[in-house]
Amino acid sequence: MLPPKSTLDCKQFTVNIIPQMTDMPSVTTPVLDRYAVFGNPIAHSKSPFIHGQFASLMQQPLTYEAILAPIDGFEANLRAFFQAGGKGANVTVPFKEQAFALCDSLSAEATLAGAVNTLSLLADGTIYGDNTDGLGLVADLVRHLGSLQHKRVLLVGAGGAARGCILPLLKAEVGQLVITNRTQSKAQALVDIFSQVQEGRYSDKLQAVSMPELSGEFDLVINSTSASLAGELPPLPQSIIGNKTACYDMMYGAKPTAFNQWALQQGAAQVIDGLGMLVGQAAKSFVLWRGVEPDTSGVLKLLRDKLQADAQ
Ligand code: ATR
Repeated sequence: MLPPKSTLDCKQFTVNIIPQMTDMPSVTTPVLDRYAVFGNPIAHSKSPFIHGQFASLMQQPLTYEAILAPIDGFEANLRAFFQAGGKGANVTVPFKEQAFALCDSLSAEATLAGAVNTLSLLADGTIYGDNTDGLGLVADLVRHLGSLQHKRVLLVGAGGAARGCILPLLKAEVGQLVITNRTQSKAQALVDIFSQVQEGRYSDKLQAVSMPELSGEFDLVINSTSASLAGELPPLPQSIIGNKTACYDMMYGAKPTAFNQWALQQGAAQVIDGLGMLVGQAAKSFVLWRGVEPDTSGVLKLLRDKLQADAQ
């Protein structure tokens, strides 16, 4: 049972997206479809800006707000949002697992990730959960590198961020996916889970290898660890990086991340940060809700410019 709306302790930061529709009659006020991102903290979220840009670009009239849910009040706030007419929501830290638990139905990506970042209220009143983080990563990788088919890929880290991108990487037909992690047992646990997916279809491609035992150059190394947040580096051997290796850090910033700096020093051909993944996951949420997929390049440029300007 939900508490009355007035007792819900949530703060709504922004309602900023009403694209100018040139062909919209000026005398009527349309009821706009309502979307939001829930998190704690949330004030830093770029999602309202990104979805605002997408809405304008695609001429989709909607509102998108950032909602700060109390740590123990996510579900109540979310259900109140849907009861008040909300159509869909993004979910960010620390609520992705709670979102997974409350869904009535789930995509394969969300089921395997154990986490949900995109919720849709279906016509029958039930809640559908998806996870677009990995799809956003793959879309950004393909944008930079072209097809991932047959590539030898190293995934560093075995937390939630890693878990969410394994199925999308396998579906993109990478040739090999090696998972390594500071705590090796967690990498092995992920390999065990994903080796059973679709009757073992991907088991030959998956391997867990401890960091000191990694050998040979990879086509692509993806850092999903939170080490860069603390300016730290996973203890990876230099030999994994060759002059054709591309490196991707899911973190991003105005300057290259610690991991990407390290990769450049080892002679990597290319380093990419996770800003494109952020925009990519938003584009995949947008298409789930609205049925049209926005181009991400314009929004990405605006965000990159802002990131640089803020760092000046
Ligand atoms: P997320 O949901 O963002 O993936 P998480 O579940 O806390 O967050 O996982 C964080 C990941 O970063 C883990 O793989 C963690 O390694 P452990 O499993 O050994 O804890 C990894 N990580 C964090 N800090 C690290 C560091 N300084 N060096 C190497 N790995 C690190």
